[in-house]
Amino acid sequence: MTTTSQSSLIECAVSAAKTAGKYALANFSRRREVVKSFKHDVKLKLDQECQVKAISVIRKRFPQHSILGEEDDHDAYTGSAANGYQWIVDPIDGTVNFSHGLPVWCCSVGVWKDGEAVAGVVYAPALGELYTATSDQPAMCNNRQIKVSSVNKLADSIIMTGIDKEFDSKLKPLAIFTKLSFNTQKVRVIGSAAWDLCQVARGFCDGYFESAIYLWDIAAAGLIVEKAGGRTRMIKQPDLRHRLSYVATNGRIHNQLINLLTRQ
Ligand code: IPD
Repeated sequence: MTTTSQSSLIECAVSAAKTAGKYALANFSRRREVVKSFKHDVKLKLDQECQVKAISVIRKRFPQHSILGEEDDHDAYTGSAANGYQWIVDPIDGTVNFSHGLPVWCCSVGVWKDGEAVAGVVYAPALGELYTATSDQPAMCNNRQIKVSSVNKLADSIIMTGIDKEFDSKLKPLAIFTKLSFNTQKVRVIGSAAWDLCQVARGFCDGYFESAIYLWDIAAAGLIVEKAGGRTRMIKQPDLRHRLSYVATNGRIHNQLINLLTRQ
């Protein structure tokens, strides 16, 4: 791929993420307009409206590319990333934070080619943070290069994680939380996986793990971690609902964290 086409992908991804994120911020007073509530999750009208905004930017520039969005009807999804470009959009990652007014939420736009991430943008409008990376350019926050931390012992690390929204039926995330708590300096659950992963990229924490995360949560931020010098791994590949088990680290504690997570 030429540099020109990478720059056109990242420009479009930035524009799509900013369009959706600015729309969400401008409509912050509508953050409690709910489409559907669940015990540990919520679907907002603004999730859907922001996805429409992001997709319209992408469609205008790349009408032939396939797009997977969190708000799609996934039962009807037949698109495939096997050949060609796929855009993967999470219009508001950290929806529960957003609906309560917490500022940690973001819009994530990833571009994949033949199953590999080639461009990624995570935009957190309420925090004024724009994270970007392409496969041939380093990770940046607000146009300044970022790098993972140099912590090299799991015992000295901060690991972020997420508590799966369906955890009632499987206590695994809580067992993992306990295991991490005993073996690290601190565990944090902030509530916006894409933004959390960018903190690994920025060196503010040292790793992230979630046993049942969605492809749209990691599609952009995973590349940002890698291009900041970190490592990522899908411990379980995405299932039909696009859920996977995922770890990202600064690289130095990668094997220690995976060994801990996979040890019985
Ligand atoms: C969720 C958040 C949360 C993570 C969940 C995600 P959403 O995304 O990123 O931190 O633990 O697995 O699904 O629903 O707010 O877009």
